[in-house]
Amino acid sequence: MPRPIIIDTDPGIDDALAIMLAAASPEVKILGIVAVAGNVGLEHTAANAASLADLLRLTCPVGRGASGPLWRRDTSSATEVHGTNGLGGYQLPTSTRPLEAGIPLCARLIETSPEPVTVVAIGPLTNIALLINQHPETARKVERFVIMGGGTLDVLGNTTPAAEFNIYYDPDAAACLFNFGVPITMVGLNATHQALVGSAHLPRLLASGGPVAKMVAHLIASYHENHQPSDESAQHDSLALAAVVDPSILTTSHLHVDVENIGRLTAGMTVVDHLGRTGKPNCDVAIDVNVTQFRELLDSRLSQLDISLTGQGG
Ligand code: RIB
Ligand code: CA
Repeated sequence: MPRPIIIDTDPGIDDALAIMLAAASPEVKILGIVAVAGNVGLEHTAANAASLADLLRLTCPVGRGASGPLWRRDTSSATEVHGTNGLGGYQLPTSTRPLEAGIPLCARLIETSPEPVTVVAIGPLTNIALLINQHPETARKVERFVIMGGGTLDVLGNTTPAAEFNIYYDPDAAACLFNFGVPITMVGLNATHQALVGSAHLPRLLASGGPVAKMVAHLIASYHENHQPSDESAQHDSLALAAVVDPSILTTSHLHVDVENIGRLTAGMTVVDHLGRTGKPNCDVAIDVNVTQFRELLDSRLSQLDISLTGQGG
């Protein structure tokens, strides 16, 4: 039985690969995709979500969520990493599908799903906080929030020394989720920086020559992240998605996590309590990654996706 998921996302180069992986994985069923402002503005993230859904022939609804953080006005997008349009300049056909109001869509999908829903949040958590505030009893029905965000141990931040982009962009929203009391898996930079992916790791996909291969080749080449010597970069969001498809990819520790949302130097920091001193554990924190297993999953699934989209193979 595929696990029903909602993807909350700010596509975004690595978001795009995560959505492709979800579309290619029979272990999950995408109930809906909800866009949020983050890497680039909502006008682009929503359009990119719709165009990706068209490319991947997804029949699920797509929603437009928050156009900015709950309250902060001192955080900005990441066009220097994802390009002005959010996809490194890659041009997908403009979608004509109607977009729904994102938070009501998310609430409806959770309420109407016959099975408990996993929300995979791979952008800033503004939509998640709005869902919690506007539909608290619905949000409590979520089986688990699997988020790409934060960091601990050897990698705390990529936007400031203390904060990762998704959490830094809206720390108040993140604090709301971590204090809500529903199961959370946190896939932070300490894990995603282990999961570097470059063209050398996707041989089957890139040999397939289909629409997914063409787009992924462009995305990898244009993803100005980490400045690795090769074209390798941390595929943050597809690691979070992969953890839902195959939980054995991650090793996690059950720890207490809260978010600093007022610090002058530390706003957006995920404060992970490895000492067990500040409170009851509320989060499964990714500590280690089976990188070979992750890369194999990505290459095999995305190459199969291309074959299915181009109608080759049986
Ligand atoms: O810090 C990495 C995260 O921020 C990823 O989700 C990336 O897409 C950006 O949203
Ligand atoms: Ca993202």
